[in-house]
Amino acid sequence: MTQGCTREDQDFTRRLPDFAALRAKVAGISPDPPERLAKFRERYGLRITLLADPELEPAAAYGAVKDGKTLRSTFIIDPTWTIRWYERGVKVPRHAEQVLSVLREIVTADRELDPAIRFRRAYRATADEPVDKATVERLLQAAHLSPSCFNNQPWRFVVAEGESLTALKEALTGGNYWAKRAPVILAVASKPDLDCRLAGGRDYFLFGCGMAVGNLMIQATRMGLIAHPIAGFDPEKVKEALRILEEYVVIALVVVGYHGDPNLLSDKHKTLEYGPRERKPLAEVAFWRYFGTKEAGNGK
Ligand SMILES: Cc1cc2nc3c(=O)[nH]c(=O)nc-3n(C[C@H](O)[C@H](O)[C@H](O)COP(=O)(O)O)c2cc1C
Repeated sequence: MTQGCTREDQDFTRRLPDFAALRAKVAGISPDPPERLAKFRERYGLRITLLADPELEPAAAYGAVKDGKTLRSTFIIDPTWTIRWYERGVKVPRHAEQVLSVLREIVTADRELDPAIRFRRAYRATADEPVDKATVERLLQAAHLSPSCFNNQPWRFVVAEGESLTALKEALTGGNYWAKRAPVILAVASKPDLDCRLAGGRDYFLFGCGMAVGNLMIQATRMGLIAHPIAGFDPEKVKEALRILEEYVVIALVVVGYHGDPNLLSDKHKTLEYGPRERKPLAEVAFWRYFGTKEAGNGK
């Protein structure tokens, strides 16, 4: 119930509709017990959520304690629980406006296409610089966190190494010459009975593996890596090189590496590397209301 806290909570209460319009929730947290906070809320007609932290636990975790006292601090936490902005030692005047304006910028940016999705390309200019095992493992974790039918996790990955990598590179088609420079190539293999097989021809193993590779590619892009899936290989040779059992389908190889010199690519690939992103018009592949409808609708 200090002047600073009162003013701050009133300012945030006044701005609450603006925060709500950005789908944000505002919570104030203080060492006071819940009963005292309830009284405070009532006395000043506050509408933000108030949380009690008598042991200063969250406060310490957020680094908002100094010499045993709380530091007035604000954190903007996004829907993935990532702290996107913070200020410790906040001055109350105009603070709510400032937070609102920072939040507006963050939300506006987040409503754009995800940068990793936008930036990802099937880049071919990989450097021959090695990628360490922990990094490759992180990519595999990302893939393995993918959803799958009944959580069947139909994906099997083989990361080629040493002799198996050399043998795998022999299985590439000529057009995939560029992948020979790559330090890491992994194979994605599966078979129909590792996943749901439902009526209407819905064998889900390929779908599941595709989603897993999608996750892997996004994670790789975030980490500054190229992850390029390819189908241009001899599947029998790949199975032999990696000792993949006969009944498996080698769905794709994923070529992984850091960005390298595009001048080592063929002229065609050099043009593609930084050329415009080619896609059919969205209306050709996505429909509103009924399959195949041409005009864009609004879902009503
Ligand atoms: C299943 C699959 C197989 C592919 N096979 C090859 C390939 O053998 N060689 C190659 O250079 N690119 C291959 N690509 C990359 C595609 O050509 C590329 O994703 C597509 O042209 C779109 O470009 P973008 O990924 O840069 O947006 C493959 C992609 C997928 C998903």
